Amino acid sequence: MRYTQEMTTVLSRTVLAEGVFAYTVSAPQMSRLAKPGQFVQILVEGKQLRRPISLAGLDAEAGTLTFIFEIRGDGTRRMAEAKVGDTLDLVGPLGNGFPLAESEAVVLIGGGIGNPPMLPLAQHYGEKATVISGFRNAASVILQDDFAATGAATVLCTDDGSAGFAGFTTQALEAHLATHPCDLICTCGPTPMMRGVAAVAARHGIRCFVSLEERMGCGFGACVGCAVDIREKDGAVARKKVCTDGPVFEGQEVCW
Ligand code: FES
Repeated sequence: MRYTQEMTTVLSRTVLAEGVFAYTVSAPQMSRLAKPGQFVQILVEGKQLRRPISLAGLDAEAGTLTFIFEIRGDGTRRMAEAKVGDTLDLVGPLGNGFPLAESEAVVLIGGGIGNPPMLPLAQHYGEKATVISGFRNAASVILQDDFAATGAATVLCTDDGSAGFAGFTTQALEAHLATHPCDLICTCGPTPMMRGVAAVAARHGIRCFVSLEERMGCGFGACVGCAVDIREKDGAVARKKVCTDGPVFEGQEVCW
């Protein structure tokens, strides 16, 4: 794994929805190393542990990284106080990201704050991708214009039907697969959603990659705080670290 520590400068700060922020930072070294699905660890003032945040944008040419997060506690609240021109101490890129396969028809499924890591994949696959995004309601919808700008088809779902299709992303996925070819599914979001997506993919015989979210301590494989059960090819179950073995795993490998 190649990663670095970089003192980055905040270039932009955007409020995407209530309590959801997008930051783009100048990170010339890290942006050259980063791949879709990887994450960075951000040092938060007054906190001992860095906060892991998935990458929502990586531009090696511009030397920038973008990450999007939702305020979920004191650490993320402090992160959201950073202003344009401030310095952020980042370590990354960390973890194993999504494999960039030679796929012809890809479905990318994001649930809530699991949508941002789908954006670099949508940029990679363009018109070959369909992005199915799920949110609680219309007020929490983010990134739909960004996904559309990649050339990908988009399907919006909300739990309460206040925008797009009223229902779960798994239902939208089943409907999509009934009429479209698909040879790869990638997903990030709440565990029940990813478990459901992996089950649909298995039923249809489609390869599926999931990005697991676990509480992380070190981010380097040292504390074992992020271990999950993964079924290996020989059927044996092994403890794997989300931070270094993942966060991306094959959906069929995960012991849900
Ligand atoms: Fe410490 Fe994964 S976060 S081993």
